[in-house]
Amino acid sequence: MARARLNSGNTQSDDLPKPKLNKDLLKKSLRIFSYLKPYRTKFIIGMVCLVLSSLSMLTFPALLGAMIDAAQGRQTYEWLSPNVITIGSISLYILLFQSIVSFGRIRLFVEIAEKTLANIRKETYYKLITLPIEFFANRRVGELNSRISSDLAQIQDTLTSTLAEVLRQTISLAFGIVLLVFVSPKLALMNLCILPVIIVTAMIFGRFIRRLSKQAQDELADSNSIVQETLLGISNVKAFVNEYHEATRYSNKLDAVVRIAVKGATYRGFFASFIIFCIFGAVIVVIWYGAMLVARGEISVGDLTTYILYSMFVAGSMGSLPELYANIQRSVGASERVLDLLEEENEAIVISEDNNTITNTIQGNLNFENVSFSYPSRPDIITLKNISFNVRAGEKVALVGPSGTGKSTIASLILQFYNPTSGSITYDGKPNTAYSLTDIRNQVAIVPQDVLLFGGTIRENIGYGRLNSDAEDIIEAAKRANAHDFIMSFPQGYDTLVGERGVKLSGGQRQRIAIARALLKDPAILILDEATSSLDSESERLVQLALEELMKNRTSIIIAHRLSTIKDADQIIVIENGEVSDIGNHVELMAKNNGLYQHLYALQSAQKTTTET
Ligand SMILES: Nc1ncnc2c1ncn2[C@@H]1O[C@H](COP(=O)(O)OP(=O)(O)OP(=O)(O)O)[C@@H](O)[C@H]1O
Ligand SMILES: [Mg+2]
Repeated sequence: MARARLNSGNTQSDDLPKPKLNKDLLKKSLRIFSYLKPYRTKFIIGMVCLVLSSLSMLTFPALLGAMIDAAQGRQTYEWLSPNVITIGSISLYILLFQSIVSFGRIRLFVEIAEKTLANIRKETYYKLITLPIEFFANRRVGELNSRISSDLAQIQDTLTSTLAEVLRQTISLAFGIVLLVFVSPKLALMNLCILPVIIVTAMIFGRFIRRLSKQAQDELADSNSIVQETLLGISNVKAFVNEYHEATRYSNKLDAVVRIAVKGATYRGFFASFIIFCIFGAVIVVIWYGAMLVARGEISVGDLTTYILYSMFVAGSMGSLPELYANIQRSVGASERVLDLLEEENEAIVISEDNNTITNTIQGNLNFENVSFSYPSRPDIITLKNISFNVRAGEKVALVGPSGTGKSTIASLILQFYNPTSGSITYDGKPNTAYSLTDIRNQVAIVPQDVLLFGGTIRENIGYGRLNSDAEDIIEAAKRANAHDFIMSFPQGYDTLVGERGVKLSGGQRQRIAIARALLKDPAILILDEATSSLDSESERLVQLALEELMKNRTSIIIAHRLSTIKDADQIIVIENGEVSDIGNHVELMAKNNGLYQHLYALQSAQKTTTET
């Protein structure tokens, strides 16, 4: 079983690497701010509120100190009357003002962040779904999902609070230090001697502990991925009786988690005691020394109070800086990843509501001329070599050949998911460039090998073929696809939920839904990629009938595994190792001795007779 971590969208941004901040990276990620532009007035008002609230906070220690002095009949500031009531009411007014601007800033920042983020999210999603298929070949869905969930959540966090917090703490730190020196230079000098020692120790220690807890997190994530993998593949675990093996694997992982967590807790305990010791030690020293200064009459009790309050501000700001820095680092990383995605080049399709409007009609003539192709993700392997064939409108053509020879790849090329490496594909004699991508895809429908149903109702799933179709069209399509009866056998009929949370449809039922979907689309060119897993004879017959209905009056390209279904095809194209090895109808190909088709056909009829007897 693959041991790769399955992160289906629940990647914590903590797990993602934090980039080293440098000028280029910062400059790049600052571009995310361009999304703030529509809200710049609100942003500026928010910033003003923020500055005002931080500054008004800084007046409290001075006012409270002055109040204490006033109680003892001293006047701290010449411009402030030494009256407890006056100072008290001024404080209350400032507090009220502070509350109002704080409310304003929080309200504004959250609104701006939510709106901005919704815009970035929409743009990212739009980008994702308009990217060419080859983009998805190299990425895991979980990874892309985490771009939309955790990376953007990280950016949101920054816009809502981190930015404001950085500004607030910087103001409080800078002004706080100046005010400390102003209130008592002697105390400030002494403080400045102890503070750096504490900060440096705390930083070194903190980094060490963070590393440990990261390790513990990684181990925990690994153990979670065991749970995820095994639950997703529970039938495999049971079928191979590997319950014991998996339980042991999980239990070993958890033991490792506990070991690291306990080790981390030991250091964390040390760290916490150390910090508490330092902080209270510093407080004791400051008050002690301050009390001496008061005793000597060098400062007043009010000044000491003011000083202590300011030093709390400063210490709080300093303490919050490392976390804020880490947050910004994470956001820069997240912005970079999101911006990279937004810069990818998307497919040249016009996405609009009336995406079913066809400007350039295709009759259904299809021609492959010396088409060679390699998947962009594996450029060294030539998947298709000089494929040439010609299909006239309305013809029924079958592609046969062993597994992995490139039949589904031909289907992808017809749908313009990829461009041929060389050679040309023409529709009605005109090259693909003569049509818009939307025109081609609107007139080519595929019933794929493995039908994916979306987690909605059956009606929605059929309606996916043509979004503006009404209820009757959908029922009509389902009837023609032989799906109506089984749909009506569900209590909720067409409103039955399917997909992950709804009923599980059988392979044949899903195929008939896909056929109904294709019928609704009414394409000029139809591609049937027959499922390899064979259906039982009854559903096979139903699917077969549905298919015949679908193939009427249009070019049909059938990728067939059951050769019995293609006997009446106008052409049968035999593909071997990415090359056309034979073309002809059933009779012609059967007449060729030692041909691959004849061989495959003989094999299948032999199988059929053995299973039937
Ligand atoms: N997205 C992809 N990226 C890279 N290689 C691919 C991709 N899809 C298919 N291939 C490779 O291209 C080759 C042809 O695959 P294709 O799916 O066309 O085979 P097929 O003829 O449809 O087989 P089957 O009958 O089993 O459906 C295979 O070797 C496969 O591994
Ligand atoms: Mg295939």
